[in-house]
Order: sequence, then structure tokens, then C-alpha cells
Amino acid sequence: MNVVMTGGTSGLGRFAAQRIAAVPDTRLLLGARNPGAGPAGTLPLDLARLASVRQFAQKVEASLAGRAIDVLALNAGTQFGNLGNRTEDGFETAFAVNHLAHYLLLRLLLPRLAEGAAVVITTSDTHDPRVNPLAPRHLDPERLAHPAPGRSGFRDGFRAYAASKLCNLLTARALARSADAAQHQWRVIAYNPGFTPGTSLNQDWPSWARPVIAISAALRPVLRLATPEQAGGALADLATGRVVPPPHRVYASLVRRRLTWPDPSDLARRDDVMHDLWQQSARMVGLPEAP
Ligand SMILES: NC(=O)c1ccc[n+]([C@@H]2O[C@H](COP(=O)([O-])OP(=O)(O)OC[C@H]3O[C@@H](n4cnc5c(N)ncnc54)[C@H](OP(=O)(O)O)[C@@H]3O)[C@@H](O)[C@H]2O)c1
Repeated sequence: MNVVMTGGTSGLGRFAAQRIAAVPDTRLLLGARNPGAGPAGTLPLDLARLASVRQFAQKVEASLAGRAIDVLALNAGTQFGNLGNRTEDGFETAFAVNHLAHYLLLRLLLPRLAEGAAVVITTSDTHDPRVNPLAPRHLDPERLAHPAPGRSGFRDGFRAYAASKLCNLLTARALARSADAAQHQWRVIAYNPGFTPGTSLNQDWPSWARPVIAISAALRPVLRLATPEQAGGALADLATGRVVPPPHRVYASLVRRRLTWPDPSDLARRDDVMHDLWQQSARMVGLPEAP
């Protein structure tokens, strides 16, 4: 089994990568900013640079030497305490890393996916206003890519993160609906690990917000929050096919340590929003709209 993965170097993804790599006859190609620190098969990838995404895709192709990808797990993610970060391509960094770079990688690797391949994109229930009051109520990809200049704080940064995770979910839905997915019987899943304290995701949170993480970690058993190992294990199960989605379900959500298959938010279910995001993302990364 040939597996390509992002975000396998820390947090829940590290546990997922370990579990995937332990499956017999598995070849894991990880993309990471610091490839020297990763296991064998780790290739350089900085999702904050679209040029790096293109180079990574080329290196993956070379490493595969004609073999097809059985699992594509797009798990890397980042979160900032404000809206002030920009990539070298000029995009707001959470949108660029979490969504745009993964969209580009997906598009570049689509032709290499095997028959029956699994594509798992890590999203978050923070995309959903039923869970997160700061979740997006509408989606304007251009505004996410280039937020209006001005002061921004924690709420704006968290909103941008939640919106990028909505983009992950819409991208998964768009792929699942595509003619290619039907023709090649791809298994497409948007995976929400749920709030999982103990990873590095919240390292940019301001000091006043950090106690939320510490208190949640302390209350983990009572709240039945997953550990990074449990959340990574569920990701590995979805990626390797140990757990298979029920028919026509795309959104897998870990709730109280159990995998569930709920409806995503109203906005995430809108086909017009989904098509618009796909088209605008294609334009931003310089690809034609059709996959
Ligand atoms: N933890 C939660 O509560 C939670 C809840 C819902 C969804 N999620 C999602 O779960 C996924 C994993 O998050 P986590 O909590 O495990 O966070 P984490 O510990 O911060 O791990 C994030 C991973 O993404 C990688 N990454 C970040 N920026 C990158 C870049 N520019 N280029 C390449 N790789 C980059 C990191 O690599 P480095 O090792 O180089 O930093 C790391 O492997 C994310 O998509 C996140 O949105 C997390």
C-alpha cells in the first residue's frame, strides 16, 4: 500500500502515521517542513509555499516510480491568534496552509490515485455554527485569501481557521461528487478529530486563552475528549479502510471517542458554495477548473 500524507510529524497525525506505517507492505511518503526529523520516506514540504507543494508532488511521483497512490491523507493544519500572517504567495497563512496548498496537492496527485484509493482530508467541527459560534455563515474565498487590512485579534484568527476547515470539508465533498471519484471508486472522507488537547495546534493562542487547553486536558476523561493517539488512530482506521464510511457519507466526526457520520453544517452542504470554492481555488493556484 502506497500512502502519501501531510501533517504526520506531530500531534494526532504522528500517531496516525505510525499506525499506518505498521500495516504490512506499506510505503509511507510523508511531507514535512523538517524532513530530517521524520521517518524514512519523509520528503520536504512547506505548505505555506505553493512552489514547495509542486516540488513535493514531483518528488512523490519520482518516489512512486509508476506505482499508484492507495491512500492520500491530507492532515496538516495550522492556527493563528490573529489574521496577520501571509505566505510568500501573498495569501493569509491559515487559508493557504490548511486549504489552498492541500487543494493544489490533491489536484496534482489526482492522476496518480489508484482504483479504490482513499482520500482523507482532516477538517474540524469548528466549521459548524452548531458547535462554534465563530463558524462562518457565508463563504467568500477571495476575502479569506486576502483579508481586509486592519487590526485583528484572536477571534479573527479563530474564524479564519474555522473557515479554512469548512474549505477542507467542501473540497472533500466536491471530490466525492466528481465523475473521477465515481469512475475510480475513490473513498473520500472529511475527518473531524474533535477538540483534542495535547497537540501543537494551539501554540499560537494568546496567554489568556491557554488555560482553556490545560483545563480541557485535565477534564479529558470526564468530557470523553480523545487523546492525540485516539484521534490519530481513528484517522489511520479511515485511511487504511479498517473503518469504511456508510453509503453516501463523507463527514466522519469523532465524538466522545466514537466515530459518527453526522451531516456537516448547512453551508458545508451547499453545492453552489462547494462549486464556487473549487473554481476560485483553481484560479488562485493557477490550474484549470475541471479536475
Ligand atoms: N487538535 C485539535 O483539537 C483538532 C481539532 C479538530 C481538527 N484538528 C485538525 O487536525 C489536524 C492535525 O492537527 P493537530 O492538532 O495534530 O496539530 P499539530 O500538532 O500542530 O500538527 C500539525 C501538523 O501539521 C504540520 N504543518 C503545519 N504547518 C505546516 C506547513 N506549513 N507545512 C507542512 N506541514 C505543516 C505540522 O508539521 P510540523 O511538525 O513541522 O509542525 C504537524 O505535523 C489539523 O488539520 C487540525 O486542523 C485538530
